[in-house]
This record gives sequence, C-alpha cells and structure tokens, in this order.
Amino acid sequence: MEHRSWAEPWKIKMVEPIELRTRDEREAAIERAGFNTFLLRSDEVYIDLLTDSGTSAMSDRQWAGLMLGDESYAGSRSFYHLVDAVRSVYGYEELVPTHQGRGAEHILSQILIRPGDVIPGNMYFTTTRFHQEHAGGTFVDVIIDEAHDPDSTHPFKGNIDLDKLAAVVDTYGAERVPYVSFETNVNMAGGQPVSMRNLADVYEFCRRHGILVMLDATRALENAYFIQQREGGYQDRSVASILREICSYSDGATVSSKKDNLVNIGGFLALRDPELAARARSLLVAFEGLHTYGGMSGRDMEALARGIEEMVAGDEHVRARVGQVEYLGNTLIKAGIPVVRPIGGHGVFLDAAAILDHLPQEHFPAQALAAAIYRDSGVRGMERGIVSAGRDPGTGENRHPNLELVRLTIPRRVYTQSHMDVVAESVMAVYERRHRVGGLRFVYEPEQLRFFQARFEELPA
Ligand code: F0G
Repeated sequence: MEHRSWAEPWKIKMVEPIELRTRDEREAAIERAGFNTFLLRSDEVYIDLLTDSGTSAMSDRQWAGLMLGDESYAGSRSFYHLVDAVRSVYGYEELVPTHQGRGAEHILSQILIRPGDVIPGNMYFTTTRFHQEHAGGTFVDVIIDEAHDPDSTHPFKGNIDLDKLAAVVDTYGAERVPYVSFETNVNMAGGQPVSMRNLADVYEFCRRHGILVMLDATRALENAYFIQQREGGYQDRSVASILREICSYSDGATVSSKKDNLVNIGGFLALRDPELAARARSLLVAFEGLHTYGGMSGRDMEALARGIEEMVAGDEHVRARVGQVEYLGNTLIKAGIPVVRPIGGHGVFLDAAAILDHLPQEHFPAQALAAAIYRDSGVRGMERGIVSAGRDPGTGENRHPNLELVRLTIPRRVYTQSHMDVVAESVMAVYERRHRVGGLRFVYEPEQLRFFQARFEELPA
C-alpha cells in the first residue's frame, strides 16, 4: 500500500512564546531546584515534557465553551452536558465529577476498600496506590512479566497475568479483594496498552468471583487506538466504538480528564451501580463539592464535555497524537538510545538504568538523567524509577522497581515535530557524554509521594 504521512487535524490559531535560557541560568536553576525537575519554574523550561497532564491545548470550540459554562451552584447545565458526554462516549450511566483524577481515586478507595483488603492491579500508579493504601488496603501488582522488561516488544505489555490474579484471589479469598484496579495504557510501564481479549478475560474471571473491575480510564483513548492498530478484528472499527467496548468490561472507572479529555483540570468517577454512586456522592459533598460540580467550575465542565466529544469525533486526532510520540521514539531508537519498547501512547521512556549503567539504583540514575537533559537543553522530563516508587509503608525500605526511567511526556496538540527534533538531539548529546553524569543523594525526602517535592545534591565525583 502507498505510504502516506499523518498530519495533525488542526491548524494553529494562537501561540505562546517560549524561551531557551543560557547554560549558566540552567545550571543555577537545576541546583536551586534540588535536581528535581518538578521544582523548576516553568519560565526556566524551554520544551516542557514533564507531563501530558493538564497541558493540552484546547480547541476553539472548547474555549468558546468556557464562555457558555453555567456557574450555577446546583444543577448546572454544563454538568448535564458532561453527563451526556460520559454516557455516550464511555457508556457509564452514573457520573461523579471530581476536581481531578486523584479526587476520584480517593472517593472510590474510600467506598470500596476496608482495612486489610488487597487490591490487585496492572502496575501501580503513584496516586492510585496511595489512596488504596490510605484506605487501609494493600496493592498487589499482577501485570504480565513483560511489562517490567524495557526491551520486551510484547504488543500489550499492560495486560494482567490471569494466573497472578487467580493466585491473589486464592491466597486472600475473594471477599478480601473488593475490586481489580485495571489501568488502560499503563503509565508507569511506559504508556503500554491492554488488549481487548485481556479486558474481557479479566472481567469474566472477576464476575465469576464476585469481584468488581474498576478501570483507570485516564488514557483509554490511546489504548483504544493501539487495539485498532495491533489486535486482530479491530482494524476497521472506529476508535470511538473500541473505547466503548473497553469500558463494557468494567463496573466503573476513574478518569483524570487532564489527559485524553483535552482539558487543563478535571476528572470523574463513573459507575454503573446507582447504589454505589449514591455512596460516592455522599463522600463527594464532603471532600470535593456538590454532586453536580465536584470541584470543577461550570466552565471547566463545559470544556471537558466538549473535549470528550472531540477526542473521538474522528480517528485522526488520536492517530496524530500517538504518531507524534512514535516519531520522537523512533528517532531515538534509530540513534541507538535505549528506550522502552514498543513506544507508548503518551511519551517516550528513556531506560536510565541502561543509559547510566555506571550508577547503582541507590544513586538515582533516572533523577540524574532528567537533570542532565535539562542542563543540556532546557528540556524538562520526569523521573519514573526508584524515587517515584517510594518506600514500602510496612518495612520503610525503598522499593526497587525494575524500571528506572525518564519519561519525556508529550502534551497534546502543543508542540510541533521540530520541537521533537530538538528534544531528540539533546537526548543524543547527553547520551554521548553519559559517563560524565554522576549520581545524586537526598537532602530532603518527603514522607508521601516523595518524587514531587524531594531535593537532591550531587554525589562527590
Ligand atoms: N491515573 C493515571 C494513570 C495518571 O497518569 C494520573 C496522573 C492519575 C491517575 C491522577 O490524576 O493527576 O488528575 O490527579 N498522572 C499525571 C502524570 C500526574 O504526570 O502522569 P490527577
């Protein structure tokens, strides 16, 4: 078949200037930030690949929606627009709006988890696991082994290993397992999808054992795209219909709308069971806001409803979105840089353990690599390794994840292909000098979710 390039299904109407600081300014900035890219000021950053969360560019239709947002405290028109969008795109009847994803995780964990419960999931996400533990539960990783291997090219590295799941249920008993926490396009694994087959099998297994399946559908759209590209029988299906099918194998979902949904803030818990939703709403009014806004303003909900409709209006949006991520990833692969394969949906994950193989994990290679890239070019990425994994709440020891990664996360509809070229050149330049990158040690280690605010210093050479 004749090859044709993809292109973004939009043109640019408004621009926001960015500026590259001098090398001396960047040196001073990363020292001041304690070698933690979360503590840089955005003015000090040239190309910001810290996260794809809340960093999307909205469309003209979404911006217009801000003006139409209904700011009524109760019963906002924009809330009902959002309910309709979630029903038609995801297929869940009950909508519990929250200020962002972790608000939904908090509410879900509080209504379903009792102290001593066990929650199996396909690799942890930081805030998700925090709320499960905060509610007295213990998270158990049941993702397939391939997910922990950056070189495995398994097409669905996000899949749940059904034998591991069955072993958890055997060991603890189904009554101690309130739900399976099933993430689509697994963030910490490198943006890796789950297959429809696996979704269906896990759902069937859970029904037999009376266990709920709760999706983290934050990046389910990107997962749907990978199913269309990689799983037999889905090539001719629209991404919209694949997304609906993904959700059909679940009892509910938490969503951080700051990703797929193309807004800068917002999220929701969506459920099928009205009784469960009623319990969620009674906590919602205490922690988030009234059940018809849950921490979002009316205009936030209006922009979100429009973002949800837009992301599935055609397949071109997600094709260009993932296409841009793959462009950066393939450029790095061609240059021989170790990255997680296959390239994920929302970012390129550099294998810091392989790149800085002279540093032990205790010297925080991914943290050091992220700082080195910032120094080189003002490009900001994020550590996703031992610092993010934190300490085991039981033993107080560092967890040692297999994956020690730097995530270069691509915001949606924000940067061009030339920005991706500049990023790739910087990673290659740092790779050339990789043996000169030294390790780090903590000077400040917060107790919870330490990666956000930790500070480091360079180890003496
Ligand atoms: N679930 C997943 C899979 C996420 O990636 C995130 C956030 C959340 C839940 C929490 O949502 O931020 O709206 O409260 N991920 C961001 C990131 C922070 O950079 O990956 P939130």
